[in-house]
Amino acid sequence: MSRVNPESIENPRERIIVALDVGTLEEAIALVEKLPQVKFWKVGLELFVHSGSEVLRFLKQQQKKIFLDLKFHDIPNTMAGACRQAGRYGVDLLTVHATAGKVALEAAQQGAIAGAEVAGYPPPKLIAITLLTSLTSRDLAIDLKIPLELPEYALEMALLARSADLGGAVCSPQEVARLRDVCHQDFLLICPGIRPSWAEAGDQKRSMTPKGAFQAGADYLVIGRPITAAPEPEVAWQRICEELM
Ligand code: C5P
Repeated sequence: MSRVNPESIENPRERIIVALDVGTLEEAIALVEKLPQVKFWKVGLELFVHSGSEVLRFLKQQQKKIFLDLKFHDIPNTMAGACRQAGRYGVDLLTVHATAGKVALEAAQQGAIAGAEVAGYPPPKLIAITLLTSLTSRDLAIDLKIPLELPEYALEMALLARSADLGGAVCSPQEVARLRDVCHQDFLLICPGIRPSWAEAGDQKRSMTPKGAFQAGADYLVIGRPITAAPEPEVAWQRICEELM
């Protein structure tokens, strides 16, 4: 199941999701307009709590793809309702915590399908958070009392998501090769923690270059600050895409 490591990456422009990590709708609009070549944007908690569905409507009007990263984690009924609402906005990818459990994941999936159908959109793919990358082995063992090693636990959570028919998982670039070997090819693996060799690492501790992450088996990369905080974001975007071709 492992992928060969091709020198050039297929359709890199379609497979880079840029993190719209800003606090207001106005800043979001300015950034999207500054980067017209970017087709896929990630909306996270901060922007969504501030701007709600307005930012989703704006991105749809601009014909952008949307990764709605709200990391739902609740009882099955509430998960289903939240995912139904997200499905109505025509988002493409939507995150939920695998630890909500199989019944909640299945309910979430059904909700997303129903919401999208009502609004006439294709159903979003539900993407599982296996384990937050901010958690360490120590947190897992001592605080959360989970007796598995960290990579093994992330893998088990990805398999749980897969068994609930979810569309994929978020994982660190360090875990992607192992998950790619175990999960079926159509299970999307999405990696944040990406840093081109010329960018600052910032708070990403276990980062990988865009090419390295694609070669390890990632389907999509999430990249934020190396593009959005660059002095000229459009130049940074272009440079990343060229390095992949
Ligand atoms: O700026 P940077 O490239 O580090 O942004 C990465 C994006 O991916 C941020 O929106 C961050 O919240 C998100 N993310 C992450 N690690 C995860 C899950 C999401 O960095 N495990």
